[in-house]
Amino acid sequence: MAEGPVAPGDGSAWVFGYGSLIYKVDFPYLDRRPASIEGWERRFWQGSHDHRGTPQAPGRVVTLIEAPGALCRGVAYRVDPAVFDHLDHREKNGYVRHRLAITLDGAAEPVPGLIYVATADNPAFLGSAPLAELAAHIAQARGPSGSNRDYLFELARALRALGSHDPHVHELALRVDAVLGATRRPAEHG
Ligand code: SIN
Repeated sequence: MAEGPVAPGDGSAWVFGYGSLIYKVDFPYLDRRPASIEGWERRFWQGSHDHRGTPQAPGRVVTLIEAPGALCRGVAYRVDPAVFDHLDHREKNGYVRHRLAITLDGAAEPVPGLIYVATADNPAFLGSAPLAELAAHIAQARGPSGSNRDYLFELARALRALGSHDPHVHELALRVDAVLGATRRPAEHG
């Protein structure tokens, strides 16, 4: 398909990943492209009961907050609709699908697509807190998918590989390193 504004005409759809969907790709896809969306900021404001924490001790994972003028970098996948069963299940703890325009790197026009976003009205939403508090929380949380710190570090690493600096993510990674005693490859997250 040529670069351009059109939706895939074959029933497939574009999904934009901005958190673990960037680096944990446990689903088949037809195309994968670095991409960005406008008007949204990534924040560790969503509670995780099922992946990086538990219902008794939730972890913190990213969601998107509307922020006019902001640009959020991530990865877009073109997927067969059958993949949504898997993604809906994976993102079930508070995330809902939301339609929006995705700008694929190198494309002249945005494509229609969707994100999984956890809005402030979902029961697992934790909201804002000072960075020091977020870092202390992330440093100790753990759930069935692994430690909360690894979620953060993997995301920081994946964003760096995309050539993207997200101050919220990278500052948090540095702070979690500090909480852990700065023993864990601190230079990698800066
Ligand atoms: C995403 O990655 O796009 C959604 C949030 C997550 O699963 O970490």
